[in-house]
Amino acid sequence: MSTLHINAQPGDFAETVLLPGDPLRARYIAERFLHRSRLVTDVRNMLGYTGYFRDRQVSVMGSGMGIPSCVLYATELLRNFSVKHLIRVGSCGAVSDKVELGDVLLAMGACTDSSINRQRFGGHDFAAIADYQLLQSAVQAAQTRGVPVKVGNIFSTDLFYGEGSDILELMEKMGVLGVEMEAAGLYGVAHRFGGKALCMATVSDHLRSGQALSPKQRQTGLDNMIEVGLQTALL
Ligand code: HPA
Repeated sequence: MSTLHINAQPGDFAETVLLPGDPLRARYIAERFLHRSRLVTDVRNMLGYTGYFRDRQVSVMGSGMGIPSCVLYATELLRNFSVKHLIRVGSCGAVSDKVELGDVLLAMGACTDSSINRQRFGGHDFAAIADYQLLQSAVQAAQTRGVPVKVGNIFSTDLFYGEGSDILELMEKMGVLGVEMEAAGLYGVAHRFGGKALCMATVSDHLRSGQALSPKQRQTGLDNMIEVGLQTALL
């Protein structure tokens, strides 16, 4: 049965859903990487598709930007559509010098300035961590395809336009690799509903130096990450 934000029917989604932020990126992934793909949801133009990668049924759906949007869709997918695995395929800004533009970060854990997991967890700090099996599969998939990955902590912020560089310095001291806007929420909701989640993010810009990928490099980085994401879904 449809939910408030997803007008699909039971069985329309595969067990594994890739989650880019941008719904048009979901369409791009479905058209370019899946075969026999079909549109399964389009409420508010948050497009979702189900198709096949090799012989495995896989879905891909936009999550929107930021934790509230991502968590809303993830909740409905896990709770109402029997989805088991959520793999975010996004972009991030780098804070660490150890990270290169175009690297794919695999978020083993996610720090955050959002209170969402405290709201879920009685005011305590929940350790927002990736599913180990998905993480291990993604590392293996990246190694097989020769895609450079770094595994570690990222920071999911509510504030895209921040208030200065002090926090970036602090993040670097604490070993945070990059900043994005969804992983911590995704990891919390996955644990809450018994799902497995992993966030991977291509480094699109360096927040301290201001370096950024060109549009062409962005596309190549994105395609590499999508292949790693889809390969992860097979393992
Ligand atoms: N901040 C938050 N999210 C992002 C960034 C950033 O600098 N770059 C890509 N996603």
